[in-house]
Amino acid sequence: MTQETWTAVDDYLARLLIPADPALEATQRAAADAGLPAISVSAPQGKFLHLLARITGARRVLEIGTLAGYSTIWLARALPPDGRLVSLEFDPKHADVARANIARAGLSAVVDVRVGRAIDLLPALDGGEPFDLVFIDADKPSTTEYFEWALKLTRPGGVIVVDNVVRNGEVVDPSGRDEAVEGMRRFLARLASEPRASGTVIQTVGAKGYDGFALIVL
Ligand code: SAH
Ligand code: DHB
Ligand code: MG
Repeated sequence: MTQETWTAVDDYLARLLIPADPALEATQRAAADAGLPAISVSAPQGKFLHLLARITGARRVLEIGTLAGYSTIWLARALPPDGRLVSLEFDPKHADVARANIARAGLSAVVDVRVGRAIDLLPALDGGEPFDLVFIDADKPSTTEYFEWALKLTRPGGVIVVDNVVRNGEVVDPSGRDEAVEGMRRFLARLASEPRASGTVIQTVGAKGYDGFALIVL
C-alpha cells in the first residue's frame, strides 16, 4: 500500500462525503498563493474535527496552530451562533491569511485569531470560561506544555485532540534524533501519567501520509 493509494482513497471519500465547498477551497488556494506550507489537516480529517465538535456539543473551542485557518473553519462551523473559537498563531503572515479566509467563510464573529507564541498567549485565557474542545497542532516540541495548558483550560468532560502523534511510525524510535518525535514521546508519557485524562491514539493514513492523532477526554 502506497501514498498514491492513500491519496486516491482520500480524494474518493472527499468527493463522496464532502460537498464542494467554496470557502474551504478558497482557503487552501489562498494558503498556497501566499506560500504557506501545505500542512493543514486533510478534508476528511477536517470533517472529523467538525463532527467531533458537534458530537460533544462544543460551544467554546481552543486551537493552537492556525496556519491558514483550514481546521479553524471546519471547527468553527460546528459551533452555535454564540459559540467562540480562539486560535493561536505565531506567524503574523499566517494569521493575516487565516483572518481573510475566516472572513470569507463568514466566521469572523465566532473566531478570534491571536498572534504570538502560544506559550505567551495561553496564560491570558486562564480564568475565562473553560473550553469544551482543544485542538493542539502547532510546534511539536512544545506539545507537552500545550497539553498542560489544555488540562487547565478545559472543563471536566471536555475533549483534547493532538495532531501528528505518530509521524510515519517514528514515535516508536526512542533515540531522540528528531525533536518533533521526541516532543510527542514526552507528551504521550505525560498523558499516560495524568489521572484526569483518558486518552488513546489512532494511527491514520491518507493524503497526509502515515500519522495519527491523540483523542483525550477529561
Ligand atoms: N491547524 C492547522 C495547521 C497548523 S500548522 C490546520 O490544520 O489547518 C502549525 C502552525 O503552528 C503554523 O502556522 C505555525 O506558524 C504555528 N506555530 C508554530 N509555532 C508556534 C508557536 N510557538 N505558537 C503558536 N503557533 C505556532
Ligand atoms: C507538519 C505539521 C503539521 O501540523 C502536520 O499536520 C503535518 C506536518 C510539519 O511541520 O511538517
Ligand atoms: Mg498537524
